[in-house]
Amino acid sequence: CAGIFPLHMKFTLRRPDDFHVHLRQDADLPAYAREAARRFARVLVMPNLAPPVIAAVDVDTYRKAILADAPGLEPLMAFKLLPRHTGAQLRALKDAGAIAGKVYPEGVTTNSEDGITDLRQIWPLMGVLEETGLVVCCHGEKPGVFSLDREERFLDEFAETASRFPGVRLVLEHVSTAAAVRAVRSLGPNVAATITLHHLEITLDDVVGGMLKPHLFCKPLAKRPEDREALREAAFSGDPKFFYGTDSAPHHKGKKECAAGCAGVYSMPVALEGLVDVFDRAGKLDRLEDFCASFGADFYGLPRTTETVSLEKASWIVPDVTDGVVPYRAGETMPWKLAR
Ligand code: DOR
Ligand code: ZN
Repeated sequence: CAGIFPLHMKFTLRRPDDFHVHLRQDADLPAYAREAARRFARVLVMPNLAPPVIAAVDVDTYRKAILADAPGLEPLMAFKLLPRHTGAQLRALKDAGAIAGKVYPEGVTTNSEDGITDLRQIWPLMGVLEETGLVVCCHGEKPGVFSLDREERFLDEFAETASRFPGVRLVLEHVSTAAAVRAVRSLGPNVAATITLHHLEITLDDVVGGMLKPHLFCKPLAKRPEDREALREAAFSGDPKFFYGTDSAPHHKGKKECAAGCAGVYSMPVALEGLVDVFDRAGKLDRLEDFCASFGADFYGLPRTTETVSLEKASWIVPDVTDGVVPYRAGETMPWKLAR
């Protein structure tokens, strides 16, 4: 008789990919990489390390470190794309297995002091980028602009670049505004965007509207409720231009809870559990697999994953601290749990 035995709910999907993650380096890398390996088949690892991943040899070294620390996780390599890169260097990066170059706006986020001030600075490299098929991942914020307007003010140069070079694929990373969603929709098939879990859930009010929540401080900043709504609509829509990139960006507790805190949300410990929760509560579980395990692979020209991962409806509490970092949703009860 129903009601006595709780319905054992399980949700299975093809193992997802994370097309934007920070795994850090050295002593920090093993824990963060293993946390990713529990959930994802492949992760596009961001290159804003110190020293950064810029050359072919850096790609090789960093990939080996990740493979050693998290066997079973396939790292997809990105390098920091700089205007001073030569054609020969880009070809060598491609040969070393890089699939994307990431452009950072100068000084806007972690280790971006050597970043660009205008996307047009990389136009001279577009020929080689097209020839090699390297994807250009953009942290889309305009340096020097008021922080809430930085993403929107980047969109003109992004659109101009995408239209002028239709043979180069561009990803607008971690979109945070309705304007960015509209821009990505209006541009050609060479353009896509990643969306994070936290930008699907929080607004700026969650960060600074009441007590200050440094662990929700990230770049780009979470914006207005209508921006969050546009992101949710894009993620749930089944539009292949939008796919998952966690932007999980761990910083040790002391680097967040201090006078000049680092930007970044450590979402990896809930990166699949939280996503299933968001889609489930919206009644959109049928759209989840495409968002996190199909559209990104398709855009990057990679085969879709074949293994699966399962979650079960079973509550658990997110730890207050894990590996020295306060994770996203720390202390909260999650309704979905990774199945063994
Ligand atoms: O909040 C962020 N943290 N945004 C970024 O773009 C970089 C990241 C990090 O590396 O900490
Ligand atoms: Zn990032």
